[in-house]
Amino acid sequence: ENQMEQSKLLKGKKVLITAGPTQEKIDPVRYFTNPSTGKMGFALARQATNLGAEVTLISGPVSLDTPSGVARIDVKSAEDMYRAVTSCFAENDIVIKSAAVADYRPKQTFGQKMKKSPDAYSVEMERTRDILQELGDTKTTQYLVGFAAETNDLEYYGEQKLRNKNLDAIVMNNVSEEATGFAHDTNASIYLTKEGKRLVLPLMSKDDLARKVLIEVADEVTGESL
Ligand code: CTP
Ligand code: CA
Repeated sequence: ENQMEQSKLLKGKKVLITAGPTQEKIDPVRYFTNPSTGKMGFALARQATNLGAEVTLISGPVSLDTPSGVARIDVKSAEDMYRAVTSCFAENDIVIKSAAVADYRPKQTFGQKMKKSPDAYSVEMERTRDILQELGDTKTTQYLVGFAAETNDLEYYGEQKLRNKNLDAIVMNNVSEEATGFAHDTNASIYLTKEGKRLVLPLMSKDDLARKVLIEVADEVTGESL
């Protein structure tokens, strides 16, 4: 492997990456969210830039610095992310969806703070749009990479997502283990392409994982082998 050659692998490629959680508001001071910190997506953005790509990073609310050279678009809700992603989709060559998008949002968002009462309270939830599903259904030339977050039956559910969402590849993460998944600096994953190429990516830093995933993607997209 030649470092000089690797450094140019994504030169001339436009890469769209999503990162972080989404926030789904109930009222001005309350929302539903999840434990995603955006570290995986930001590592992907940083490493794609290092490999010469022109990177757009669409991120939910996180407290991370924008990697240098990356164009960042901040969003809050799944619907905001849907709009941002679909408006950039056509012009990109590679799209990697590492964001932890909410599957449900409150059916009603109140304009004023709700007051507590002695009674129990339940929130009616409705489905958000599945952004990745829609990209898979409408993609033309884009190379589309999804993520799967699972606590059990990782490869079964991951492969289903790869097929059902018409992805080119998927990064499957077990988010139930201590040292992997949400909010950690490390991840252990299995990478699977639609042609059935399967790569076990043992516990490593999210930056190392990002680089390995991007080198695989570049290999498929440019047809260059290392
Ligand atoms: N995803 C998305 N839009 C949504 C939900 C998920 O784009 N509304 C994307 C995620 O960014 C990820 C992939 O779909 O790349 C898989 O997300 P995941 O939560 O693992 O799977 P789901 O399809 O949402 O199914 P479930 O949560 O039931 O496992
Ligand atoms: Ca989900």
